[in-house]
Amino acid sequence: MSHPTSLLAAIPHDAPHIPVLLDEVIGALDPAPGKVIVDATLGAGGYTRALLAAGATVHAFDRDPDAIAAAREWGAGYDRLILHPRRFSEVGDALAQAGVSAIDGLVADIGVSSMQLDQQGRGFAFSSDGPLDMRMSQEGPSAADFCNEAAEEEIANVLYNYAEERQSRRIARAIVAARPLETTGQLANVVRRALGYKPGAPKDPATRSFQAIRIHVNDELGELEALLATAESLLSPGGRLAIVSFHSLEDRIVKQFFKDASGVASATSRYMPVAASAAPAVYSHISKAIRAGEVELNRNPRARSATLRFATRTDVPARPAGSRRRP
Ligand SMILES: C[S@@+](CC[C@H](N)C(=O)[O-])C[C@H]1O[C@@H](n2cnc3c(N)ncnc32)[C@H](O)[C@@H]1O
Repeated sequence: MSHPTSLLAAIPHDAPHIPVLLDEVIGALDPAPGKVIVDATLGAGGYTRALLAAGATVHAFDRDPDAIAAAREWGAGYDRLILHPRRFSEVGDALAQAGVSAIDGLVADIGVSSMQLDQQGRGFAFSSDGPLDMRMSQEGPSAADFCNEAAEEEIANVLYNYAEERQSRRIARAIVAARPLETTGQLANVVRRALGYKPGAPKDPATRSFQAIRIHVNDELGELEALLATAESLLSPGGRLAIVSFHSLEDRIVKQFFKDASGVASATSRYMPVAASAAPAVYSHISKAIRAGEVELNRNPRARSATLRFATRTDVPARPAGSRRRP
């Protein structure tokens, strides 16, 4: 896992997005010439560039057309870079179309990129006013469509399920009463008023609602579950799966997935011997949760909520889709 020099240290300070846990991710994937690795979340290409530099062939996915357009420019010199402007839940179909049936590694860094957050027009952040959008793919129903059209109960459920917002019903009622909402500023103010926010308080309560609505608009948890399921059948024995998540719900899904896949008997009878209840392990060498250290956090505060988990695919056949427990 250790690298003689830090890959992060080589990232320019004016990079549009500083990749999180870069050294740890690349160490986990162990790229080399001849290896085929999927970067499911290309973004500004922090991981992809390091994988290419190590000699690997990279199939890079992003549902955001801006990320793909940028990579067509900076990656133009690489014939080992294959770009897929698609959702990563479609990785199986996309690779089959490209004639690839097995891969040596897959990484997903499933947050929002700094380019997305920092562009007012994308509507991900409420620190600056912009259209209420939040769509990574720039198509389909937007956050405004959801806030203006969904039933009050559905809005409350999204806020509660994806952000554990205890005041979900009160906020949903306020959103419905304030329709139509068109900008991030309007939504933030509706949430703040509903929660009696005092300007200057340490944490803006709109943070949780924005996160929940973004997760819903982009079906982020459904995408993650589909990716984990497909990766299992694509990875060759010895192949590595590395997932960086930014949210406790996502990390819970990844942690539970690896636990189930490791063959450790889960929630069976305490009277049943483990050997009798355990399934063969489809992943081994499952890492603990890895978080950014102080040096990285000083450089990139956005890494604070990132968690990396990785594991090695065994030679046990992939479990049939229906047999896996839903996280
Ligand atoms: C945190 S950024 C990745 C940054 C990248 N690791 C880097 O170093 O530049 C996440 C990226 O994944 C993309 N993304 C998120 N969910 C996706 C999905 N389900 N399918 C495809 N791309 C997705 C986003 O559009 C965004 O560009």
